[in-house]
Amino acid sequence: MYKVTRNSKYDFLGQSYASVFPNLHKYPATMLPQIGIEILRELNIKKGKLLDPYCGSGSSFTAGLDIGFDEMYGFDINPLAVLISRTKFSKVNIERVNLLRQRLRNRVYEFVKEEDNLKTLDLPSIHNIEFWFSKEVLINLSVIKHFIDKIKEKDIKRMFLIPFSECVRECSFTRNSEFKLYRMKSEDILLFNPDVFGIFFKKLTKTIDIYEKYYYPKLTDAKIEISYSKFPEQKNYFDVVLTSPPYGDSKTTVAYGQFSMFSNEWFGIKKARQIDNMLMGGRAVKEKYNHGVIANFINSIENESKKRALEVSSFYYDLETSISDVAKSVKVGGVTIFVVGNRRVKNIQLPTDQFIAEKFEEKGFNHILTYERQLGNKTMPSKNSPSNKAGDLKSTMSQEFIVVCKKMQG
Ligand SMILES: C[S@@+](CC[C@H](N)C(=O)[O-])C[C@H]1O[C@@H](n2cnc3c(N)ncnc32)[C@H](O)[C@@H]1O
Repeated sequence: MYKVTRNSKYDFLGQSYASVFPNLHKYPATMLPQIGIEILRELNIKKGKLLDPYCGSGSSFTAGLDIGFDEMYGFDINPLAVLISRTKFSKVNIERVNLLRQRLRNRVYEFVKEEDNLKTLDLPSIHNIEFWFSKEVLINLSVIKHFIDKIKEKDIKRMFLIPFSECVRECSFTRNSEFKLYRMKSEDILLFNPDVFGIFFKKLTKTIDIYEKYYYPKLTDAKIEISYSKFPEQKNYFDVVLTSPPYGDSKTTVAYGQFSMFSNEWFGIKKARQIDNMLMGGRAVKEKYNHGVIANFINSIENESKKRALEVSSFYYDLETSISDVAKSVKVGGVTIFVVGNRRVKNIQLPTDQFIAEKFEEKGFNHILTYERQLGNKTMPSKNSPSNKAGDLKSTMSQEFIVVCKKMQG
């Protein structure tokens, strides 16, 4: 077993993401940037190439900028995650953004004055769309999207797609308190009549405001490259990895793909409904994972359910492969920092922190430390379904582990 030390310095109780670094867009299971800043400081790592292979909304880069890193790379398979990160960490001309904001407002309200204009709009070809959106909301969202698509500057256009994405979700018949897609009750839908333009322009102002106050001032000449793809191995390239991988397959833990589905569909992403299958643990496997520290836990789950044991196995096969690619991509002497949770399946807690240390040690790393922190400030579903039966919910985990390993040999 790899030693775990309880370290309350990393609890940041009472602090949230928003209290220090407001996020531009809601995103599930974000990592507190404060954790990244503290552990990089403690390990005295302040320069070199930083990698986050599952970057989500980009908390690692917020931490990296705060420490002074000038070269950072991120990867994520979820297009919405990449949009959020790229918008936060790209320098744009704020005056130009505000000019276009005013212009877009004028054009939208001018456009809807003429009913005939509405007939010229292309509504998105999304499957079963009227199950999730009212006709009026669909038209008004299409008006906004119609004018956003006229913005030529890619970086600036993103600044408008962020509030648009939040507006899509908020004006849909989705229950907003959940990450997974649940439709509102019909009686609530009858009373639901969102002011799409009002919501969008309010969110647009807030997005620009947060960007201008919290992200723009920090954007030095640092190179921050964020790719919409799985992390591809790059031999001995990175000095430090700071990341927070998913802690299980999307279907039974945090559904990043479902949460992002409407946004990704309005962005025109053809595979928007397959994202969760593309994420770690998303594909079906026939053989259970049966080696190393995790094997006995999967055997115990198998005693309860062969199906769940295979679903859990799929996740560890993918995590092992990804750790192997990451390990090869770190320079000798480089350090990996994985912030991860140990989920419960069939009431069996899976020691993913131990699994991560074990896999890196198999790749020429030494386990340096694992800190246990209390979870009090993470955007997580309050309950999830260890049994994956609808309605059979248990409270999700309350600890998180910061696993640090160092590469000793190539
Ligand atoms: C816990 S979240 C990261 C949150 C991020 N640290 C933040 O603060 O926003 C995990 C991310 O991993 C991504 N992901 C899952 N499987 C992946 C894979 N195989 N390759 C790349 N990204 C993946 C998901 O889309 C999700 O955005």
